[in-house]
Amino acid sequence: MPDKEMTKAIGNETMLQVLDLHKSFPAALTAAPAKAPESKDSASRSSLFARQKKAPAVSEILHGISFEVKQGDVLAVLGPSGSGKTTMLRCLNFLERAEKGSVTLRGQELSLKRASKAQIAEYRMHTGFVFQNYNLFSNKTALQNVTEGLIIARKIPKEEAERKGLEVLQKVGLSDKRDFYPSQLSGGQQQRVAIARAIASDPDIIFFDEPTSALDPELIGEVLSVIRQLAKEGMTMIIVTHEIHFAREVASHVLFMEDGQALFNGPAADFFETSDNARVQSFLRSLNAES
Ligand SMILES: Nc1ncnc2c1ncn2[C@@H]1O[C@H](COP(=O)(O)OP(=O)(O)O)[C@@H](O)[C@H]1O
Ligand SMILES: [Mg+2]
Repeated sequence: MPDKEMTKAIGNETMLQVLDLHKSFPAALTAAPAKAPESKDSASRSSLFARQKKAPAVSEILHGISFEVKQGDVLAVLGPSGSGKTTMLRCLNFLERAEKGSVTLRGQELSLKRASKAQIAEYRMHTGFVFQNYNLFSNKTALQNVTEGLIIARKIPKEEAERKGLEVLQKVGLSDKRDFYPSQLSGGQQQRVAIARAIASDPDIIFFDEPTSALDPELIGEVLSVIRQLAKEGMTMIIVTHEIHFAREVASHVLFMEDGQALFNGPAADFFETSDNARVQSFLRSLNAES
């Protein structure tokens, strides 16, 4: 590749673009049903009843989220619990279907509502997902967990998949645990296997949903340092996290969500240092008070 092309590829290429993502759940299932005011007054009770009957069958959780991630960006998604961060990531991996919006990965646009199974399978070949609870197969070893997707979805020959599997297990510091089952590994080790699995297919982008929130405090560091290393190597990532110090250290950009809206979307330095948004400030204050 000529030098100029190379800089372009590494420099400013838009990796992922999300436009106008809307997502609702059936109202009966959402956590915050319309609260009935306590009232003994029968007139207001019957009007309340009328209101409940007319209440919409769905309640919107994400109200039109848009953002862009460039190659090499580390986007930290921050915001209070219940603001829709997990739902957003699940929509972006088609674990949930949005009602509206699109995701464009390396110029390939997909409707978040209507993408076909084949389109989704192709998209998943280029994306990695790391869940809060690791989601490993309990009946497979660390190495098998990593190679499974390579062999089954990608049809890579077993030997080659194992070579790659060992390479990524080494990268997360677990080559000596290749034949261990998840139940024989600590939470931190299981999460590192999950990260090895996500990077084994050389994805364009990895989505992390609170990768350390299920871990005992003493195991958080080993997982964060693997993610930190990936960030240094230029892996493009979206990380939902409560680890604010970590976000501050590794994030190049921040998306701050509240009540299903993106209240801030921009460079991390602006978020942490100069944002004059009152909600951002009170969020940061609440975290400072915690730590
Ligand atoms: N499967 C679901 N069915 C109904 N409501 C849901 C579902 N998943 C999430 N919600 C609701 O959507 C809102 C956002 O949740 P979530 O995306 O988990 O927030 P966060 O990850 O920011 O804590 C919450 O009110 C939650 O109760
Ligand atoms: Mg969540």
